[in-house]
Amino acid sequence: MILLTGATGFIGGRVLKEPALKNVKVRCLVRKPVQSDNPDISYVTGDVLDYDSLLKATAGVDTVYYFIHMMGKQKEQAKFDVLDRTAITNMVKACRINGVKRIIHLTGMSDPREKLSHHLASRKEVEDIIKSSGIDYTIFRASVIMGRGGGAFEILDSAVRNFPVIPVFNWGNTHVQPVYIGDVIRYLVECLDKKETLNKSYDIGCSEIFTYKELMQEYARLLGLKRIFVRIPGSWHRISSFVLGKMSSVNPNVIYWLIESLRNNMVCEPNDLKKIFGFEPVSFKESVMKLME
Ligand SMILES: NC(=O)c1ccc[n+]([C@@H]2O[C@H](COP(=O)([O-])OP(=O)(O)OC[C@H]3O[C@@H](n4cnc5c(N)ncnc54)[C@H](OP(=O)(O)O)[C@@H]3O)[C@@H](O)[C@H]2O)c1
Repeated sequence: MILLTGATGFIGGRVLKEPALKNVKVRCLVRKPVQSDNPDISYVTGDVLDYDSLLKATAGVDTVYYFIHMMGKQKEQAKFDVLDRTAITNMVKACRINGVKRIIHLTGMSDPREKLSHHLASRKEVEDIIKSSGIDYTIFRASVIMGRGGGAFEILDSAVRNFPVIPVFNWGNTHVQPVYIGDVIRYLVECLDKKETLNKSYDIGCSEIFTYKELMQEYARLLGLKRIFVRIPGSWHRISSFVLGKMSSVNPNVIYWLIESLRNNMVCEPNDLKKIFGFEPVSFKESVMKLME
């Protein structure tokens, strides 16, 4: 039995729809009750901040997919790191009590040599709590995930589509290695059968590295949009998140913390994923083409 957290979210929602999960019993942890018409999928109401609900949700479970973050919480935005710490601590404790064998997690990529943003420092903390839990884990780390509904992608898309003149702030030269959502989901689902991935963490990205300025230029080019990029000193993340919050579907709190993270490079460390999984992520261009299909 798998416990899928974040089943209503960008990543968890797609994992749930994966045909490769057919014939596996999946229990989804949701905050609002959901009825299932699929005998292999059940729903349990709970909250990662409520330990007792996790104790119930993890009973009889072998593997937990942990796809939670708290950045979008309106009232508690300043302490999302505290909430995320509490949530994963609760989950690990419940997993230990119920003998869960493995936690599979997706998180944000970061370079430990850099001073991390609030968001990435919190993501790293959650990752470290899982790693030191004593429970087997597989962790994937991504930067911008190219997929509709993904926070970073929606911000990129809205900036490039809406502004003929795009300001490039201090983060313009930060490096990033995006990855296509379909490839992310493949890794997350196919790793279930791959024992080699136990107790490993992997950075996942396409083979190209862009600066954020180049990423926006290339995205505009692929969409056939002529855009002018203007370098402006400073980070301006408050005003940027306010403006983008009006234009995109992403929660302004999430935009604020993601823009604050643009100063951190997100470039993959080399790994043996191609050997293990037999595929490589598609190029940036291909991911854009796939999203336009
Ligand atoms: N999106 C990206 O581009 C991206 C890039 C790199 C890494 N990641 C990682 O991928 C993981 C999943 O992110 P996502 O983009 O799928 O996020 P998302 O779309 O915002 O989904 C978050 C999920 O967490 C659930 N959740 C929030 N608070 C909860 C609580 N207290 N109890 C139970 N469930 C709760 C939400 O449920 P409700 O519907 O009840 O709110 C939702 O299903 C995160 O670890 C993130 O760091 C994402």
